Amino acid sequence: MSIKRTDALRVAVLASGRGSNLQAVIDAIEAGTVQAKIVAVISNKKEAPALERARRHGLSGLFVDPKPYAGRPDSREAYDRELLTVLRQQDVELVLLAGYMKIVTGILVEAFVNRMMNIHPSLLPSFPGLDVQKKAIEWGCKVAGCTVHFVTEGVDEGPIILQAAVPVLDDDTPDTLAARILEQEHKIYPRAVQLFAEGRLRVEGRRVFIEAGKPERESTRSPS
Ligand code: GAR
Repeated sequence: MSIKRTDALRVAVLASGRGSNLQAVIDAIEAGTVQAKIVAVISNKKEAPALERARRHGLSGLFVDPKPYAGRPDSREAYDRELLTVLRQQDVELVLLAGYMKIVTGILVEAFVNRMMNIHPSLLPSFPGLDVQKKAIEWGCKVAGCTVHFVTEGVDEGPIILQAAVPVLDDDTPDTLAARILEQEHKIYPRAVQLFAEGRLRVEGRRVFIEAGKPERESTRSPS
């Protein structure tokens, strides 16, 4: 049973780099196809283009420096505690990892069970981790793609929400394949956010079921 809301879903995005997935979500919100409000964009990299993109759209772009915690045995947890403080201050309901190249700890995972998503450029469970487009080509895959999943403590392991597939062409390089996959990322990430906003994602163990939605004209959610 989905709960009808009249206020916009409060979303935070964690990003370390380019921020094209962040941009896709911003664009979908601005176009009215995703009914959510980005209340914080946070990066562990001061110069992340993602922060600049956020600011260009009038969103709060916050650099949280990992350095003060470096060297401590609990450096990752301590960093995540600081992030959690910010996320709670902003009443964040959904966290999106969008090219966030830092492993999140139990501190964040437990605070956002089934409320934190990640996008990954492979058809999980194949090729978790890094350089995955290169690995897909080298393995001889004929199909590659991307996955949006809920975040658990295991890296790239959580319940799968949406996937999209693309062909691997004979003359693909990691870059050409990555570009083809990225186009799909920009479609499925906003879609996953909207499904969440509509309360249509039901998680049972490892499986995520997408419940039927109301016909568009009956939807009463107001855009942000
Ligand atoms: C995207 O391809 C995303 O899937 C990947 O990093 C890129 C970030 O691009 N994420 C991972 O590999 C996470 N395991 P973006 O900064 O332009 O969104």
